[in-house]
Amino acid sequence: MTVLAIIGAQWGDEGKGKIVDELSMHADFVVRYQGGSNAGHRVVHEQGEFSFRLVPSGILFPNTKCIIGNGVVVDPKGLLAEMEELQNRGIDMSRLYISERAHVVMPYHFLLDRFEEEARGADKIGTTQRGISPAYVDKHARIGIRMADLLDVDTFRAKLATILQQKNRMITQIYGQPPLSLEEIHGEYFGYGQRLRSHITDTQAMLHEALFERKTILLEGAQGALLDIDFGTYPYVTSSSTMAANASSGAGLPPHSIDRVVGVYKAYITRVGSGPMPTELFDVSGKIMRDRGHEYGTNTGRERRCGWFDAVAGRFVAQLNGMDAAVITKLDVLDTLPTIKICTSYQLKGKMVHSLPATQSDLAACEPVYEELEGWQCDTTGVCTYEELPGAAKMYLKRLEELLETPLAMVSVSPQRGRTIQIQDVLATPEYDARYPRNAKR
Ligand code: IMP
Repeated sequence: MTVLAIIGAQWGDEGKGKIVDELSMHADFVVRYQGGSNAGHRVVHEQGEFSFRLVPSGILFPNTKCIIGNGVVVDPKGLLAEMEELQNRGIDMSRLYISERAHVVMPYHFLLDRFEEEARGADKIGTTQRGISPAYVDKHARIGIRMADLLDVDTFRAKLATILQQKNRMITQIYGQPPLSLEEIHGEYFGYGQRLRSHITDTQAMLHEALFERKTILLEGAQGALLDIDFGTYPYVTSSSTMAANASSGAGLPPHSIDRVVGVYKAYITRVGSGPMPTELFDVSGKIMRDRGHEYGTNTGRERRCGWFDAVAGRFVAQLNGMDAAVITKLDVLDTLPTIKICTSYQLKGKMVHSLPATQSDLAACEPVYEELEGWQCDTTGVCTYEELPGAAKMYLKRLEELLETPLAMVSVSPQRGRTIQIQDVLATPEYDARYPRNAKR
């Protein structure tokens, strides 16, 4: 038994989908614990390519149960479309469970996400426009609709009637747009509740039992730690906590049940949306990363900004999450580069900085200090073991490991399932703990 939290360790899009997919083979449960359909996880295997938004990618394994946890905000319409798509490709969806406590992304959340973003003008966040922030705002304002509410026609109507009065005042009076209809939303969303009824359940109880039965549980984070609402590059962040600390409450598991935290880093760094990014590249190296790494949003198609690996941000994230192991993805994207840089510190107002500044104005003023390493300039996509990697690639990985102060567990060299070099087995608790005693460095 192992409970493993897998988190994105940069600004999202680190390739967590592939890593979760590979580890899911050994998992009894895979649980999403935060975010919503702003996430996009892409998995490539023999049946073709799959894009996930809300459904945990573990669903591809016939014996794995998948849970959308209480910490997620669920767009039921989008979820049903995603489920139908998967079902049409032969995936059994009866193994998908949705927490009755998860909040619903309602039509007014989508509208308000768009209106608020437009109102920000030049200061826009660059949200995915999936209603995520307005849905979390309502959750915390205690006026959210939860999945369980969709199942009771009268309770749902009464709650919606009250909330919609407030939302329609915003929509008409602040944004000058036509009001939404109670009857239409009630009919449509009650219908979604009926279609999802067999999946909506007490997932916390399921997980509690799974713990008792010593099952293997993967907690799958969405987005990345640098988009975390507290420690990310605020205000250019998402509206949930993407950290391992939230994996327990977002899934409904006690904090001490998490055996290990694994952070997924890309071999370089990308970001979508606005906000400072010290190592961003505007030259040919950045273009190579974008082209070779297909750096375009899985859901939104937006071009991702690309840059050198930022070890300052990387170590900050490793420390905050108590990271036990790191995974490096997309190493092959760097295969053609003659030299590769790593940002090891920042220069800010004449001083060396080794941690992420709190304000976006300070981060925007940070000048990256680079260490330059030789590229390996050969194809790594067919490499199966760490030993077979070219020497320069090993040097690069070794340096990342040192700078992150975290042992590397896996290195991905191709989007294909199985093309991942195993260095340590993160699921083998006793063996791993013997080699890397948890508190050794703390
Ligand atoms: P929101 O989560 O849609 O509110 O967007 C807030 C910020 O998070 C924007 O900069 C988005 O581009 C970014 N973001 C949200 N989800 C993802 C993701 O899955 N990958 C990368 N960036 C994301």
